[in-house]
Amino acid sequence: MKKILETVFVCNNCGNEFAKWSGQCPTCKSWNALQEFPISNNQFPIKGKKRSLGKIEVKKLSEIKEENNTNQNVFSTQISEFDRVLGKGIVRGSVVLFAGEPGIGKSTLLTQLVGKNGGLYVAGEESAEQINLRVRRLGLSPERFDVLETNSVEEIGQVLERTNNVYKIVVVDSIQTMLVGSTVTGTGTLGSFGSVNQIRESTFRLVELAKKTGVAIFIVGHVTKEGDIAGPKLLEHMVDTVLYFEGEKKGDLRILRVSKNRFGPTDEVGVFQMSDAGLSGVRNLNLSGSGESKVGSAITIVMEGTRSMMVEIQALVTESFASMPTRVFSGIDNNRGRLLVAVAQKVLGMPLWKYDVYVSVTGGIRVDDTGCDLAIMGAMYSSFKEKPIKMGGAQGIAPVLIGEVSLLGEVKKVRGWEKREKEAKAMGRVVPIIYSIGELKNLI
Ligand code: TYD
Ligand code: MG
Repeated sequence: MKKILETVFVCNNCGNEFAKWSGQCPTCKSWNALQEFPISNNQFPIKGKKRSLGKIEVKKLSEIKEENNTNQNVFSTQISEFDRVLGKGIVRGSVVLFAGEPGIGKSTLLTQLVGKNGGLYVAGEESAEQINLRVRRLGLSPERFDVLETNSVEEIGQVLERTNNVYKIVVVDSIQTMLVGSTVTGTGTLGSFGSVNQIRESTFRLVELAKKTGVAIFIVGHVTKEGDIAGPKLLEHMVDTVLYFEGEKKGDLRILRVSKNRFGPTDEVGVFQMSDAGLSGVRNLNLSGSGESKVGSAITIVMEGTRSMMVEIQALVTESFASMPTRVFSGIDNNRGRLLVAVAQKVLGMPLWKYDVYVSVTGGIRVDDTGCDLAIMGAMYSSFKEKPIKMGGAQGIAPVLIGEVSLLGEVKKVRGWEKREKEAKAMGRVVPIIYSIGELKNLI
């Protein structure tokens, strides 16, 4: 006889579901994390869609108006890097998960979003006074900036129903501080703050609210060290768009990436710079000085999604007194760095076995693009020779080195070549055509 499952065990740490209880979660191995739930409570995605038999109808697409695709349903964030990442802008009634490590600047950017467009900021973590301070410090208008201090998803629902389409944007900061059920004790039937089930149910309710009221809801989610949105990767399929806000906390650059987008491309990135005045869009990254070449520095253009961006690579090649010379690569892949060191040794004849090599990308961003190989090689060679790369062009500024380096030291064209070249020229730089890294000797 088939056994009918009536309960399910959900891990509070990773969110996976199991038919049987066990002391240790079979997936994430955390102890005492499985919690029992009745199945009926667990069927989140189907609610509201139940239909009685007899009302089944087949819809003819030819008779459905193109409503959902009109531009009326999309509006700008008034922040161009943000629009770029979302596709065109914000889609009414959509839900965006805005994830990132604590302290990276999520609240800052979303405060700017509400400040520029008007909206409701649901403060689960901070007080209205703190948000007021931030709004004023960022020079934003407090006029259409409303704050709701609550941890209750039900209260958000009540406010949205009461205010009936006053808001176009609602920010919920953060999902880890939201609760369905009693906010007095901090535990509902679904567990306490931040538990996978609270997060999941809260998100589900917010998605329902967005669809019902047509407001766009931005849900802030703190990401844990492991990179999960505090437990539930599960949220990703419930929302329309998932954005990740990343960067080195010590540095001031932030990258906004989209990892899921029901309404647009997923290969766009936005680049922001954090200052006292908040986050502002950046076109090109940290090119120190006036464009003069410096020893150990090379300029390149990387592709992030479909956008091209100028970055500076710096290298320091110094004699080593250790039995094992040091290799430190920051912002580029370790293996790629080692490979380029080996090619430099073999093809350019640099005796790197007795040199420490440090390479970094300025601004603290991470580039994952073989188009920077030539610049990494150029920066290392320049540091080794203690001479800057020869300047060129009408204005006599540092050239841009673009190209992938093969194991034999050949230099190959890379994806997005035309776009990169155009960007370089727009910035008044020359892009020397190089076929082999041996030619770096003429440049340095
Ligand atoms: P915050 O937006 O609170 O991060 P999150 O919501 O992701 O946890 O920003 C955190 C840091 O940003 C904080 O250390 C202060 C800094 N910051 C600035 O440098 N400039 C600013 O204008 C603001 C508002 C914050
Ligand atoms: Mg915050």
